[in-house]
Amino acid sequence: MTGAEPLVVLLSGPNLDLLGERQPEVYGTDTLAQVVAVAAEEAARLGLGFEHHQSNHEGELVEHVHAARGRAVALVVNAGALSHYSWALHDAVAAFDGVVVELHLSNPAAREPFRHVSVLAPVVDGSIAGFGPLGYRLAMAAVAGLLDGRAT
Ligand code: DQA
Repeated sequence: MTGAEPLVVLLSGPNLDLLGERQPEVYGTDTLAQVVAVAAEEAARLGLGFEHHQSNHEGELVEHVHAARGRAVALVVNAGALSHYSWALHDAVAAFDGVVVELHLSNPAAREPFRHVSVLAPVVDGSIAGFGPLGYRLAMAAVAGLLDGRAT
């Protein structure tokens, strides 16, 4: 990347650093580095700049959203369990002026009731869930499509 490409920031929330080891029957065996590589590869193919940050701390994720303001054109957010209750992250994302895609490896709607609510959903453009690592590729395609005003 040259630095001239529109920047997409991927954020990974709590426990996603354990991907590959954590409940592989739910989240698969790919590591975080592997799914991030999928996203980075797709971003490059689509002519997008790419940055990734993972944190187990809500406030740090809020800071990453703030840091993306005015710098990134899009956010892709897998906030882990914070998706279900972090109004701080909701407010931070609401203050981001750009495309936002919510992302989950699993399909939270098909899991425990506490996962059925996303407090991010009202402030994102759309959500991709249940496709495992493929979701990371789809999220980049969604960002590119929304930026271009394309349907495909
Ligand atoms: C997750 C789903 C969340 O419910 C869970 O807390 C996670 C991962 C997913 O990618 O499927 O940590 O966001």
